[in-house]
Amino acid sequence: MPTLTNLLALEILDSRGRPTLQVGCELAGGILAWAQVPSGASTGAAECHELRDGDTSRHGGKGCLRACASVTGEIRAALTGRSFEKQDDLDGALCALDGTAEKSRLGANAILGVSLAFSRAWARWHHVPLHEAFAQIAGLHPVHLPRPTINLFSGGKHAGGQVSIQDVLLLPIRAATLSDALADVCRVYESAKRIVETQYRSRPLVADEGGLAPDFPDSESMLKDALLAIGDAGFEPGRDFALAVDLASSHFADPSHYFLDGRRLSPAEMVELLDDWTRRYPIVSVEDGLAEHHGEFWPSLVNRIGARVLVLGDDFLCTNPGRIGRAIVDGAANALLLKVNQIGTVSQAALAGGLARQAGWHVTVSARSGETEDDWLADLAVGWQGDHIKIGSITRSERLAKYNRLLTLERQYGLPLAPPFRPEALQSRPIPSVKTPGTNKK
Ligand code: PGA
Ligand code: ZN
Repeated sequence: MPTLTNLLALEILDSRGRPTLQVGCELAGGILAWAQVPSGASTGAAECHELRDGDTSRHGGKGCLRACASVTGEIRAALTGRSFEKQDDLDGALCALDGTAEKSRLGANAILGVSLAFSRAWARWHHVPLHEAFAQIAGLHPVHLPRPTINLFSGGKHAGGQVSIQDVLLLPIRAATLSDALADVCRVYESAKRIVETQYRSRPLVADEGGLAPDFPDSESMLKDALLAIGDAGFEPGRDFALAVDLASSHFADPSHYFLDGRRLSPAEMVELLDDWTRRYPIVSVEDGLAEHHGEFWPSLVNRIGARVLVLGDDFLCTNPGRIGRAIVDGAANALLLKVNQIGTVSQAALAGGLARQAGWHVTVSARSGETEDDWLADLAVGWQGDHIKIGSITRSERLAKYNRLLTLERQYGLPLAPPFRPEALQSRPIPSVKTPGTNKK
């Protein structure tokens, strides 16, 4: 059984130039493995709590020295010398030590760093590649590479708010391999850059996740321009590429309404709008189409579009097994966006993914807008049989680290690309009885 002999931590910078953590986990036998922790911008209210220093004289208060001190102080003192057979044992010990629902005492960022570094160290201890180790943690086998949904255009909080919605993504549905899928996406991206230059007379500068972000007149223009870019690159929308959209709508809603590009819409009007968009554009996935605080309206969105389209919960579900369990029972979504740092340990994220899968939901494994060059997400998405993976665009090396790791897994293990999404797959499974562990607030 692997025995933890030391923990190390340092503050590093993420892709937005904000501090985050890198954690090292040492096991007896001379193993030292590191992991870097990502961080979001359009965060859900029910996400676990990142511990930041609050000292405004350094990094505007966002420093992570206190989180580092959690790792090298209390967590190291409590865990050193202990043996952990399984990831679950370590993660259980971390949660018990913290003692809060949202991991606010020691910091979810500190806890996730330890959890991830242990996954990597555990893989080395067992002489298995990381994607295999993640598969074993979740009781699965790697069967495919997730099909990528790739950010083409950005708005919302990732692009200075020039339009309300956050991302329009390309989903290569015809490509048979990941390397073909990426090559096709690169062609569309090039034609999108030309559209930005000619139509918007703007330089093709990119947003936090690498998407192009000119001054679109409104959110729907992102969809129209995506179709143009697909066509200009010689592909056919709906045949070669589908679209996915992340509205991140919690971030342009108040308690009762949405403020979409200057229009004021009720939740029912948002459902109308999304029904219309998904009929007029080849959209197969709608993420956070409604706000996290409008849970009572989510079932009506599923009723309206859920037989054709993935109704994907990000801020709404926060990778939280309790919230997912309730949404399954309520029929409030049919797909999970899985972000490990929303819940704060590898085991709890695996449980969240398992619940979604058991209910017949689709799973998109996702990076954060604040990322690092670490590539563990690629292994995790493969190990957990992610249907889709959402990393960002095909620019910016913190994104490419993950795509390139997926390409390596494709080459090294000959894994096929997951089949394209088919709505029929959503309809056939019964709703299971679900345990809803109350692991986080709300
Ligand atoms: P984030 O959003 O800013 O919360 O990481 C990422 C996303 O959902 O695209
Ligand atoms: Zn999102």
